[in-house]
Amino acid sequence: MLILSIDTSCDETAVAVTKQRRVLSNVLFSQIKLHQQYGGVYPSLAKREHLTKIEPAINLALKRARLNLKQIKALAVTFGPGLPPALEVGVNKAKELANKYQKPLIPVDHIEGHINSVFAQNKAGKPVRDFSFPTLTFIISGGHTELVLWQNHIKYKIIGQTLDDAAGEALDKAARLIGLGYPGGPIIERLAKKGNPNQYPLPTPMLQHKSLDFSYSGLKSAFKRLVYSLSEKEKNQHLADLCASFQAVVIKSLLIKLNLALRSNKVKALIVGGGVSDNKELRKQIRRLVKQHQIRVYFPPLKYLTTDNAAMIGVAAYYKYQKGIYLKNPDQLDRIPRANLDVYV
Ligand code: KG4
Ligand code: ZN
Repeated sequence: MLILSIDTSCDETAVAVTKQRRVLSNVLFSQIKLHQQYGGVYPSLAKREHLTKIEPAINLALKRARLNLKQIKALAVTFGPGLPPALEVGVNKAKELANKYQKPLIPVDHIEGHINSVFAQNKAGKPVRDFSFPTLTFIISGGHTELVLWQNHIKYKIIGQTLDDAAGEALDKAARLIGLGYPGGPIIERLAKKGNPNQYPLPTPMLQHKSLDFSYSGLKSAFKRLVYSLSEKEKNQHLADLCASFQAVVIKSLLIKLNLALRSNKVKALIVGGGVSDNKELRKQIRRLVKQHQIRVYFPPLKYLTTDNAAMIGVAAYYKYQKGIYLKNPDQLDRIPRANLDVYV
């Protein structure tokens, strides 16, 4: 089953061709450089870029898969959550192509894509990974920090989420505060390796709360106070310590809630996805935790599958199509910028 999938939910124009779980081609036109000067994504600029890149991305994905649109069985597109003007570009293009070529259109939630990213395979069908339900999934990215129970291929239940900023967003903001580039997560990770995580005590978010929710606004303010209390010289001398201390507390907050979720939900496996899941220290600590719970953990098999991409949308779409979840009339689809996984699947 060949699917052409599109994701324009944020700052990447992403198009992929998949066959079941196999990724035949994956094209990503990143806008990171464009948004770097603003220290974050600038929505109207993102839309303009998506508009110029969407067609070249589709053509390139088809060319790399050595296919044309007529050979594709269905189209899939991210309908939300995401930036409204950005989502609109992908949704409109998918509708246009589905109408023109008379193909079914499969709407996919972006988080559902991240969850399915761990099951993407290369052209040779590797890695072979089995699904086992129920699975706990933990999506940690620049836009989301969500604990989701995955009950079967199309049934999800959100059990914890951020009340304000996402974990990746907190890392990005901390990086900006100390004059590092965007996206901040990978830069902080690199510098943190040389720093002392205990140099600066910072409050662990939501430590006293029994819920599975996250919050990073208090930590952000504490970090701001700390940075402002340092002289320019001190700040520059201790950049690595600042990164290590901030990263350590973000990871600690994620692990505390993950442990709580694993204790209160009997699951067969854990899936961790989203941009932040590429962090090596985080992976190490999660691996240690799941050993205690005696369950398997799956991370995206390749780096490109951790951050935004359309291959993961294609994998999710395949299972939705199998369950009959697709639109015969593409005009029924609209973007849902605040889509909520438990409701819209
Ligand atoms: O999944 P993603 O590409 O976009 C969203 O859907 O939000 O995630 C991007 C986020 C950014 O906040 C970035 O700083 C963070 O993932 N990130 C990392 C690492 N690589 C990317 N955070 C920590 N460590 C990393 N290695
Ligand atoms: Zn994402």
